[in-house]
Amino acid sequence: MKEAGAALSVLLLSGALVAGAQDAAGPSIWSGVFTAAQAKRGNDAYQASCSGCHGSDLRATDAEAVDLTGPAIRAKWNGKTLEDRFETIRDTMPLGNANTLGDKTYMDILAFILQFNDFPPGNQELVPQTAKVIVFVPRP
Ligand code: HEC
Repeated sequence: MKEAGAALSVLLLSGALVAGAQDAAGPSIWSGVFTAAQAKRGNDAYQASCSGCHGSDLRATDAEAVDLTGPAIRAKWNGKTLEDRFETIRDTMPLGNANTLGDKTYMDILAFILQFNDFPPGNQELVPQTAKVIVFVPRP
C-alpha cells in the first residue's frame, strides 16, 4: 500500500514536471497562432489604412515610416510579446488616427504582418489571450 502510494506520487511528480516544462517553453509563434482567413482580412485592412505610409509590400514609402518586414521588423520586434505589438500599433497607428479601427481589425492586421514575414498560419485566430503569451522570436 505504502509502495503504491510512493509510486503514484512519483508518477504525479513527473507529470507535473512535464507539464511545467511545456509551460516554460510556452506556445510558439512558429506553431501557427493566427489563421489564413484572419491574415487575409488583415491584408485588406492594412492596404486600406497602412500601406499609404508603410507600402503595400511592407516596405515604407514614407521617409518617416518604418519597414514592417526584413531587418527593421526583427530589430524592433524580437523578444516582444504580440500583445505589446498589438497595443503599440493600436495606440499609435494609423499615425494621426490612432485607435480608430477597432481591436479585432488591429489583431487581423497583426496576423497579416506575421504572415507576410513568413510565420505560418494555423487553426486558431490570434486573440488577446494568446497574444499575451506569444513572443516574437526568430525561427528556431
Ligand atoms: C500617415 C502615415 C502612417 C500611416 C497611415 C501608418 N503609419 Fe505606422 N508609422 C508611421 C511613422 C512615421 C512611424 C515611425 C514613427 C513613430 O513610431 O511614430 C510609424 C511606425 C509604425 C510602427 C513601429 C512602431 C514601433 O514602435 O515599433 C508600426 C508597427 C506601424 N507603424 C504600423 C502601422 C500600421 C499597422 C498601420 C495601419 C493600421 C500604420 N502603421 C499606419 C506612419 C504611418
